Amino acid sequence: MADVIGSVLYSKEEIEKRAEEIGKQITEDYKGEKVILVGILRGAVMWMSDVMKNVDLDMTIDFMAVSSYGSSKKSSGIVKINKDLDTNIEDQNVIIVEDIVDSGITLNYLVGYLESRGAKSIKICSLLNKQCNRKVDLNATYIGFEVDDLFIIGYGLDFDQRYRNLPYISYLEDEED
Ligand code: IMP
Ligand code: MG
Repeated sequence: MADVIGSVLYSKEEIEKRAEEIGKQITEDYKGEKVILVGILRGAVMWMSDVMKNVDLDMTIDFMAVSSYGSSKKSSGIVKINKDLDTNIEDQNVIIVEDIVDSGITLNYLVGYLESRGAKSIKICSLLNKQCNRKVDLNATYIGFEVDDLFIIGYGLDFDQRYRNLPYISYLEDEED
């Protein structure tokens, strides 16, 4: 059956406005310090590019790729690092940039991993937060928007690698049989 895309939850304009607010907040919070933004591939790409345009600090970026999801809509609960950092983050202020915090399992694992690499501080900047689905105790400092328990697509978020290109946030309608 073909996927049915729901209504627009957040438009490009709303997301860009929120990225500006968060970028300015980061600039204020880290005044006089260096930061490294670590984007989690591939979902965080659009959001990260919006946020970093608004960060006025001495900063660098790096990326990691992890997988916790197969091609289904449910988490496997297993986190695997597919691409590690190219940067030494020892004594650095790290901001992990994610597309969505769902169960929290992925980020919980990543925070522990980056701590073990000697980061000075670690905060999370996520486009979306699905608080209702949290399975571990994990708080993101910078959150774009809250979402309900829907399968979200667009603005970097995929279903089976598709829909990342949608310039807004939407969701997939439940399949009916
Ligand atoms: P968590 O470990 O359950 O927090 O899941 C984190 C990852 O699962 C995110 O980085 C997304 O790649 C993916 N994910 C979780 N919820 C959704 C969703 O609603 N749509 C698309 N991807 C999702
Ligand atoms: Mg992801």
